Amino acid sequence: MKIAVCPGSFDPVTNGHFDVFERASRMADEVVVAVLINRKKSGLFTVEERIEMLTEVTKPLGNVRVDSFYGLLVDYCKDHGVNAIVKGLRAVSDFDYELQMAQMNFRLAGVETCFISTNPLYSYLSSSLVKEVATHGGDVTGLVPESVLKRLKSKISSTM
Ligand code: PNS
Repeated sequence: MKIAVCPGSFDPVTNGHFDVFERASRMADEVVVAVLINRKKSGLFTVEERIEMLTEVTKPLGNVRVDSFYGLLVDYCKDHGVNAIVKGLRAVSDFDYELQMAQMNFRLAGVETCFISTNPLYSYLSSSLVKEVATHGGDVTGLVPESVLKRLKSKISSTM
């Protein structure tokens, strides 16, 4: 695999996402982590903040870079010479929607999707749950990278 893309909202990036980036970086020459710019949904962190966090976190992985995109993922793939989309599958509940998107992306542009089975340590983990738990004072240490944990705490205290 030459260029792979790991797309998502990453609001914020979790250790589950990082596990997928790391494993994708061993299979592809280059991995692009692409943050969706969603004009309908603002999120806790701005796209710029998410990109900063992702850039910090993926720095040790030499062949990973971070970008953002607006619109269809397959258009990003065509414009940037991406060979495959790489996604993590946490559980059967992810499968239906992920399969639909993979089939639609193949139908639209012949872009392949590869699924990585999420490390069971992170099978219950999502950015939404991390935000919910952290917002109500729960401890999310070990679920997000250290640098993200710090930003999460200060973001939550500044929004409360
Ligand atoms: O982290 P998320 O929010 O679950 O990621 C979803 C994402 C960004 C991968 C998906 O919504 C997507 O690819 N959006 C881009 C728009 C698009 O191409 N839609 C058609 C999908 S078949």
